[in-house]
Amino acid sequence: MRIRTTDVPLRLNTPAALRRWSLRCHAAGMSVGLVPTMGALHAGHLSLVERALEECDRVVVSIFVNPTQFAPGEDLDRYPRTLEQDLALLATAGAHAAFLPAAGDMFPPEFATAVRVGDGLSDRLEGASRPGHFNGVALVVAKLLVAARPDRAYFGQKDAQQCALVRRLAADLDTGVEIVVCPTVRDSDGLALSSRNAYLTAEERVRARAIPAGLAAAAACFESGERDAAVLTATVRDVLEAAGAAIDYVAVVDPEHFKEVETPGPGCEILVAARMGNTRLIDVLQLG
Ligand code: PAJ
Repeated sequence: MRIRTTDVPLRLNTPAALRRWSLRCHAAGMSVGLVPTMGALHAGHLSLVERALEECDRVVVSIFVNPTQFAPGEDLDRYPRTLEQDLALLATAGAHAAFLPAAGDMFPPEFATAVRVGDGLSDRLEGASRPGHFNGVALVVAKLLVAARPDRAYFGQKDAQQCALVRRLAADLDTGVEIVVCPTVRDSDGLALSSRNAYLTAEERVRARAIPAGLAAAAACFESGERDAAVLTATVRDVLEAAGAAIDYVAVVDPEHFKEVETPGPGCEILVAARMGNTRLIDVLQLG
């Protein structure tokens, strides 16, 4: 059979079509990798796709701007949507399928189910700044895991709390899915790639370098022996404030339970959420 370039990746439009595709892959003895995204794909997303292609026989990338994870007044309406470009990037990367549901296919009017991950994972830090956000993430990720039935699902460490939450969800619901966390891909000046970087003005984009610079300064303090979380977070805050960022939080957590620690050791993570103008950015660096 000749495959036209427009057929690659295979477009799957409904959860039922995704489920059938996955079942066919499994029936043929192939492992399936899932990369959940909201589109506006960049090299960070593509690094997850590449890792999935290394580890799985078939890879499906979902592109769905999930309305349930945006609070009223957040950027749901203006979130960048670049579908044709995304599909071209996925074709070049070699992804086998793209899951592209309409909102009504994921959340029809009669939809009535909620998913909430407890233990503070949904409510602290990013959850406190964005109430309800992680309930929307948990709901859509649970739906994606059920429909795609992957062997592995790939997430970026940049969204560290999301990773902790998804790991808990996948374990608690006995999905058997291995959650693979991939390193953050950064621009040459250190800023973590994010679809939301597109909102920054040129001047804000320059000032946003303070986020990775602040984290790097704290990591350097840690390496030279500093073990007081308050000193490490103050180091980040100083750099951010000098760049005119409005800080939501700076925190040091243990990555497993996502609880704040006063005396961090190697492996702990230092997190930042800050606004440059109207754009909210998050980043994380592992200590040690
Ligand atoms: P989105 O922001 O599109 O990100 C999709 C995946 O790409 C996430 O796992 C995210 O951590 C990862 N990612 C983003 N920027 C990255 C970077 N610079 N380096 C490495 N990985 C990066 O996160 C979401 O979508 C949604 O919440 C989703 C999980 C799809 C649920 O709707």
